[in-house]
Amino acid sequence: MDRLQDTINILREYQQEHVINLIERLDEERQRTLIEQIQGIDFQQLTEMYNNTKRKIEFKKSKIEPLKYLDKEKLTKEQKERFDELGKQVIQNGEYAVVTMAGGQGTRLGHTGPKGTFKLDVYGKGKYLFEILAENLKDANKKYNTTIHWYIMTSKDNNEQTVQFLEKHNYFGYNRKYVTIFIQSELPILDQDGKLLIGKDYRIKEASDGNGGTYSSLRASGALSEMKNNGIKWVFIGGVDNVLLKMADITLLGMAIEQNVQIASKSVVKANPHEKVGVFCKMNGHPKVIEYAELPEKMAEQVDENGELKFGESNIICHLYTIEAIEKASKEPLIYHSAFKKNSYIDENGNEVIPEAPNSYKFESFIFDAFEIFDDIGILRGKREEDFAPVKNAEGVDSPRTAKELYERFWNKQKEESLIYGNYDIENNINQPFIKIFQ
Ligand code: UTP
Repeated sequence: MDRLQDTINILREYQQEHVINLIERLDEERQRTLIEQIQGIDFQQLTEMYNNTKRKIEFKKSKIEPLKYLDKEKLTKEQKERFDELGKQVIQNGEYAVVTMAGGQGTRLGHTGPKGTFKLDVYGKGKYLFEILAENLKDANKKYNTTIHWYIMTSKDNNEQTVQFLEKHNYFGYNRKYVTIFIQSELPILDQDGKLLIGKDYRIKEASDGNGGTYSSLRASGALSEMKNNGIKWVFIGGVDNVLLKMADITLLGMAIEQNVQIASKSVVKANPHEKVGVFCKMNGHPKVIEYAELPEKMAEQVDENGELKFGESNIICHLYTIEAIEKASKEPLIYHSAFKKNSYIDENGNEVIPEAPNSYKFESFIFDAFEIFDDIGILRGKREEDFAPVKNAEGVDSPRTAKELYERFWNKQKEESLIYGNYDIENNINQPFIKIFQ
C-alpha cells in the first residue's frame, strides 16, 4: 500500500477526516512533509491523552505520607565534610554532567524570545539568565579544576534563537566544546473535540511535550549515549529560570551517594502551609511531588514533633540522577497533563483563525512524574535565600523584581563575608568571593 493511502487510513481510523481533505489539496512537497509528520504521531497515545482530559485524577484512595529529608543547615560538621568529599570526587573525576531545561514557552513572563535570553536587571549592567547559569558552572569548574559538560534542552520553537543568542555571546565564556544543545520532543495539539489543529505552514500543530520530555529527549538526541561513553555517573537537571540555582552542589551529590539513592532533590521549606507550590511526599510507597491543589488542606497544615510542616519540602526543580536512573526514566511512559490554551489554526477553507479564548489542549508531562518509578529519593533541604529565586511571572511573586532582590541580597552577603576574609574582587567578578570563601 502506498504511503498516502496508509496515512489516509490512519486518519480515518482516528476520526481525523479534516486532515484527509487537506492532504488531498496540497502540492507534492507539502503533502510529503505532512505525511512524514503524521506517520510519526502515536495516535493511540494521543487518543488516550485526549480521553484523560475528561477525567479527574483521583488521589483519594492513595496513601500519602511525608518524606524524610536532611536539612543542610543541620548537618553535623563530620556529615557535611563526608558528603562534600564524596561529591567533590565525582565532579573532579569528570563523572558529572548538567542539563538545563530551556524548552519552556515562558508564557507567564511574557518575554519575547527564549526565557534564558531574558536580562535580569542586577548590579546596573544586568545579567542574562543563561549568563547567570554559565557563571555558576564556571565557578564550579574553577573550584573543582574540571570542565563540566553542559547540556541545554531547547524546543523546536526556540532552538534557533537560543543557539544564535549563545553564539553571539560566546557562550558567556563557557568552553564551547563542553556545551551540547539538544531539542526536546513535541506532541500534537488537539481541539475540544479531539481533532488535530493545522498550522499556517500546513503541518499538524505541535508544542513541546513538557519538561518530563527531558528524559526521552536525552536518549533520542544521543546525549545520553554520549554521557555514558564519557563515563558520566551523575546528572543534574535544573530549570533555566532560578537565578540562585546551584548546579554543582557537592553536599547534595555526596548525600545521594551515601544514601545510595538513584535520585535526589534539593528542596526549600514552604513559606506557609498554603503556598502554591508542589511538595515532596511518598504516595503509595513511592516518591512523588504533589501539587498544592491536590494536597488535602488538613495535610498541608500538619506539623511534626518539632513544629515543622510534615509536607513542607517544596520542589525547586533541582534534581540529581544516576545515569542509570536517567536511562530508566527515558524508557518509561509518563502521565500527560493537559492545559487548555489558545492556539491559532487554519480552518477547512484555509483561513487562519486566531481564537480569543482557549480552544485546544496542549499535553505536557512533568519531570517529577518519573520519581514514582523509583523506590526512594534523597531530599536535602536548602535555604530559600540561597537556593531559590525564580523568574516566572511578569509582576508580583516570583517575578524579575523579586529575583533581582534575592540575587543581589545573596551576592551582597557573599561580598560582606569575603570582605571580612579580605579577598573580595569586585572589579573582576561579582561571583568570585563565593569561590574563595568556600574553597
Ligand atoms: P515552567 O513549567 O515554569 O514553564 O518550566 P515555563 O515555560 O518556564 O513558563 P510558563 O509556564 O509558560 O509561564 C519549568 C522549567 O521547565 C522547562 C522551562 O524552560 C523551565 O526551565 N520546560 C518546560 C521545558 O524545558 N520544556 C517544556 O516543555 C516545559
